[in-house]
Amino acid sequence: MSSYKLLLLPGDGIGPEVMGEVKKVIAWFNVHGIAHFETETGLVGGAAYDAHGEAISDADMDLAQGSDAVIFGAVGGPRWDDVPYDKRPEAGLLRLRKDMALYANLRPAIVYPALADASSLKRPLVEGLDLLILRELTGGVYFGQPKEITDLGNGQKRAVDTQVYDTYEIDRIARIAFELARTRRNQVCSMEKHNVMKSGVLWKEVVIATHKDGFQDVQLSHMLADAGGMQLVRNPKQFDVIVTDNLFGDILSDVAAMLTGSLGMLPSASLGAADAKTGRRKALYEPVHGSAPDIAVKGLANPIAMIASFAMALRYSFGMVEWADKVDTAIAATLGKGFRTGDIMQAGMNQVGTAEMGDAVLAQLQAAG
Ligand code: IPM
Ligand code: MG
Repeated sequence: MSSYKLLLLPGDGIGPEVMGEVKKVIAWFNVHGIAHFETETGLVGGAAYDAHGEAISDADMDLAQGSDAVIFGAVGGPRWDDVPYDKRPEAGLLRLRKDMALYANLRPAIVYPALADASSLKRPLVEGLDLLILRELTGGVYFGQPKEITDLGNGQKRAVDTQVYDTYEIDRIARIAFELARTRRNQVCSMEKHNVMKSGVLWKEVVIATHKDGFQDVQLSHMLADAGGMQLVRNPKQFDVIVTDNLFGDILSDVAAMLTGSLGMLPSASLGAADAKTGRRKALYEPVHGSAPDIAVKGLANPIAMIASFAMALRYSFGMVEWADKVDTAIAATLGKGFRTGDIMQAGMNQVGTAEMGDAVLAQLQAAG
């Protein structure tokens, strides 16, 4: 039986609660002898700041680097609004992404049949939706230097963020887009703004060159990112894989997420380069939703995105594709049976809390497994 090391970073707000449900799923895999997951738990975000004065400690960074996968909850909350900028909760997540070189962020947006009416769009537009946003995660304006506010001395200040992309960064994310498309409907739409940004000009040029370099079987199209946002709400089913930069990916993935009815439903995977010897990629799995401080500690949070993020770990880190499918099917079946947390509640359904939802998914997994 394969043995894997997981680092759990529950973080802040609803993070620890939804992580609690994933722990049940992990324990289920261990008890049934399907795989052996060893877990360690660390601190990130405000929780880490309160304990060590940093958004993540060097010791927890070492554990993350040494793990087969990091399972991440959520960070942030009003309690830490006034901490220094480089120690804010989000800095912990950004350090994990940057230091582990997790450049490929996979954000699927899938509409579960039971939830098609929860979308802000009409059912026919979203029913059966299954798209994947591939966001570049370690470059662009998030990390480009200079990044600063300077005092101009005349009562004015100047803020600068730098959008910067090198050829290799665009090439490697484009390759992943084409490879993922081949496992799906074989279409990639690349989004940038070459009409106003030099980084957009290079992005488009490199994506076209990479496409010619062995991926011509994949259908490639291009869209300006603003038009892409418009098309995502006009006719989202036209898309299969969307590949885009760090900032556009941040925005477009929130738009895509809402098409599915709730941010509480969506998982994500952040992957690094494949190791030359083992073929393994460094990896972090996290729900797309945030720490939702308003509902934290009340047992109300929807654990589905967190559980589905663990399913992505099974799929992309551990080669357990059948088990990943079974977890995803268990989630769909649980929704089909009418279980709903508050964020996705509909008339006539059975409203439950975090733990009951986790137990219901586990019961479905048990029945299928
Ligand atoms: C996300 C979040 C993060 C981001 C924040 C928490 C730094 O919005 O993962 O989409 O902007 O990347
Ligand atoms: Mg975001």
